[in-house]
This record gives sequence, structure tokens and C-alpha cells, in this order.
Amino acid sequence: MHPEIRPLDAAIGAQVLGIDLGRPLEEDAFRALDDAWNRYAVLVFRDQHITEEQHIAFSRRFGELEEHVLYQYLHPKHPEIFVVSNVRDESGRPVGAYDAGRYWHTDLSYMALPSRGSLLYAMEIPHADDGTPLGDTLWTSTAAAYDGLSAEMKRRIEDLKAEFSLENRHRKLVADGDAAAALDSRHKQSAPPVVHKVVRTHPVTGRRCLYVNEGQTARILGMPEDESRALLQMLWAQCTRPEYIYRHRWRVGDLVMWDNIPTQHLAICDYALPQRRYLQRTTLRGSVPF
Ligand code: SIN
Repeated sequence: MHPEIRPLDAAIGAQVLGIDLGRPLEEDAFRALDDAWNRYAVLVFRDQHITEEQHIAFSRRFGELEEHVLYQYLHPKHPEIFVVSNVRDESGRPVGAYDAGRYWHTDLSYMALPSRGSLLYAMEIPHADDGTPLGDTLWTSTAAAYDGLSAEMKRRIEDLKAEFSLENRHRKLVADGDAAAALDSRHKQSAPPVVHKVVRTHPVTGRRCLYVNEGQTARILGMPEDESRALLQMLWAQCTRPEYIYRHRWRVGDLVMWDNIPTQHLAICDYALPQRRYLQRTTLRGSVPF
């Protein structure tokens, strides 16, 4: 089983063929995938049929898994799995994070050790009446976005730092009308605000990446609020220019694996119950950004 890596027609991403994620991965196949992951940042595997155990085993080849701070959405039997879904149980409680990906973000950037990567497996995907899949996910290359800045802007932001927080995301959800969004004391204790560099260096590829994101970056330190907001808005707009984006149209059985350092992503919420969307995600622990 040796993977064929086929680059996508976008600034990032590749499709991987010839791999059954339900089977153990030999060392040379693992190396090929790890290289492709570092090179293309987003890897798409189609037509997979995997159990939770197989999802976890495959993910663990790439690093240690972490339990998401939003503990209410962890899989009841496998806490390494974070459920992303609009489905509700008999008592009306969401079975998963129904608002994951609502804003451009990179996973867990509000933690001191932000996640290195994520592996999202699609089990139910909503459809329009004509059968067109809904609930696409967009990934953007923040390495390409950094490269696209002027030399002057690169100098200006080189040493800047920003505050990231889960509460910032929560405040945005509430301001946008999500009455059900709630954080409790356990969330707040596990995820106090943290500070990261605005420009992050990828520990493997050495590429420079813009690290601020709309969902989780609260402000740039050391400047007045209005200046910080204007600069953040300019950098967010740079990150999400159409030429840096890959848009994934989901099919049941897709697993998409991405590197959280040189990318951000956004889930398009263009569906509602009774159309069900149910995906399971593992998250790879990261390291201190530099
Ligand atoms: C996420 O942010 O990991 C979820 C993305 C999605 O729901 O497509």
C-alpha cells in the first residue's frame, strides 16, 4: 500500500489515493504521507470506511492526541474524538460542536500549545434538494498569505504578538445571535487567554505563516485598540484572499487531515436540521509557537 499524492487545483492541498486508512500503515507509506502533509498542508482521503479505533490509530502515527477543551462535545466512548455536528439527542442537546468552524480559525490557537494538526472524518453530510452537498469547508494557506505581503508589512509585523482566547470566540458567537453558546468555569480554567507571535515559523518546513485568525485572536499587544483592530482586519483579509483557498465539498467517507500551522479553515453553515451533518475529529497536540 503506497500512497499516490495528487496535488489539488488550489494553493494548498493534495488528494491521497491508494490508501485504506483502516489498515495499519507501513513505515514507507507513513513517511510519504508525512512528507505530503508538510508539503501540501491539507490531505484529502476519499471513500474511507473506518471505525473510531482506526481513526485514532491512524491519527496517532502523526503525534500525540489531545482531548478538546470543549469537553461536552467529546465522543462518549473515545475522548480523543471531538464530535462536529448539528445533530441533537432526544433531550435536544447538541451531540457535537454545531458551531465549530463558524469563523476563520486554526484549531486551538487559544491554547498555550496550539494543535499541530486535525483529522476530520465525514459520516453524515447535508444535501440540497437537488442532491448537491452542503456544509463545505474552506482551507486557506497562511504561508502563501504571508509570502504575499509587502516587504514593508512583513517588517511591521515581524515582532508583534497577539492575544488569543476561547472567550473571544464565545463573545463573537453571542454577538452574532447564538443564544445557546456558553462557557463554564472548567472551559475558562482550561483555556485562559494566551499570547502568540503574529508571524509563526513552521517547525518542519521553516515557512513563515500569518497566525492571527478572525475567530480566536482578540487583539495585537502594544497598540491602541483601533489600530490593533484595523491591522487585524487587514491581516485576516490577506489570509482569506480567494487565491489562497481550497474549498472541500464533502462526501460521506472523506477524511481530511490538515496542518494547523500554515492554514486556517472555515465551515460554511448553509444547511439546517432535518439535514444532518456529523463528523468526527481527532486533534494532534502541538508545540510552543515561535
Ligand atoms: C473544525 O473547525 O474543525 C470543523 C470544520 C467543519 O465543520 O467543517
